[in-house]
Amino acid sequence: MKLSQAVTLAVLCGTLPAIQATPTPAASSALPTGTSVVSGANALATAVGKLYFGSATDNPELTDTTYMTYLNSSQHFGQITPENSMKWDATEPEVNTFTFTEGDQIADLAKSNGQILRGHNLVWYQQLPDWVTSNDYNATGLTAVIQNHIAGVAGHYKGQPYSWDVVNEPLNDDGSFRSDVFYDTLGESYISIALNAAHEADPNAKLYINEYNIEYTGTKSTAMQSLVTTLQADGVPIDGIGMESHFIVGEVPTTLVENFQAFADLGVEIAITELDIRMTLPETAALLEQQKQDFYTVVDACLQVSACKGITVWDWTDKYSWVPSTFSGQGAATPFDDPAFDGIVMALKGQSLS
Ligand SMILES: *[C@@H]1O[C@H](CO)[C@@H](O)[C@H](O)[C@H]1NC(C)=O
Ligand SMILES: *[C@@H]1O[C@H](CO)[C@@H](O)[C@H](O)[C@H]1NC(C)=O
Repeated sequence: MKLSQAVTLAVLCGTLPAIQATPTPAASSALPTGTSVVSGANALATAVGKLYFGSATDNPELTDTTYMTYLNSSQHFGQITPENSMKWDATEPEVNTFTFTEGDQIADLAKSNGQILRGHNLVWYQQLPDWVTSNDYNATGLTAVIQNHIAGVAGHYKGQPYSWDVVNEPLNDDGSFRSDVFYDTLGESYISIALNAAHEADPNAKLYINEYNIEYTGTKSTAMQSLVTTLQADGVPIDGIGMESHFIVGEVPTTLVENFQAFADLGVEIAITELDIRMTLPETAALLEQQKQDFYTVVDACLQVSACKGITVWDWTDKYSWVPSTFSGQGAATPFDDPAFDGIVMALKGQSLS
């Protein structure tokens, strides 16, 4: 659905009535009621005790004025995550040669807008430059490579990110460790090497492991909980677990709350870090209605667990969603240009959907 057709026109229409220069204070005395103007997602999320409602964004989008008008609005977005520009291939394309131009653009944007920054990500098996994967580093060498990368990147942004996705997607769906250059060379010790290096580089950042298919109870979630327990027992700094939450319409897991709580019980915080809910196109009224319920369900699950700090959508408009180019025939996965936005607002306002 195009922005111009959205049912959320009251919020997103050309005159942008709900985007005010002065955001609703987080500590405002009362929640908006059904009769008051709809406030933005972040204003509502912070009013009920979350740290933020946020969005991923990417550098090519920053020249789109309409897009930026919404992204800049701390009414809607109290937090941003760079989709690509802080990843390894972007920040250290050659050994020990760091480039921060694009990452800085996003970090500076967050700073100018008073938005929380989520650093994303430091160690991941994808978007790695060839020099990392094809140099046949031995354990000593690869440890130094990881430490130098993290010191360079997390050190550069020291003090700004609320959190870093230090290790991204370390597990297979069966709960075993993913085979990649890091695991194959260092075993699971690469995870503690990375977390310790991140702590040294930016002692105040919350250090996360970010993963998918751990949002619900099951083998992979249990394996992640074991990893957390092991890291804690070893005295390795681990503050949070990112629940990516790339879901499918009509298939949102039913065990989100009990699963989030299981992580909370280990003493780590969690965040919904990459939320989108895709459908097989074309979109229909029935699919959009289901999607609205699905977004409601996910946001409500975060509200039910105090350790869930915030919700980040993996971009807020279909115009810049990764879904159509990644999942053939699927799309309409982001909420702000669909009825799904209303599901988010209703959940944040504590209204029932029916
Ligand atoms: C968005 O915010 C940035 C930083 O505050 C500013 O430079 C830019 O002009 C804004 N863009 C729009 C379209 O509001
Ligand atoms: C690891 O690689 C470095 C650099 O090639 C080499 O100097 C060192 O001896 C190797 N260490 C081991 C334990 O093989």
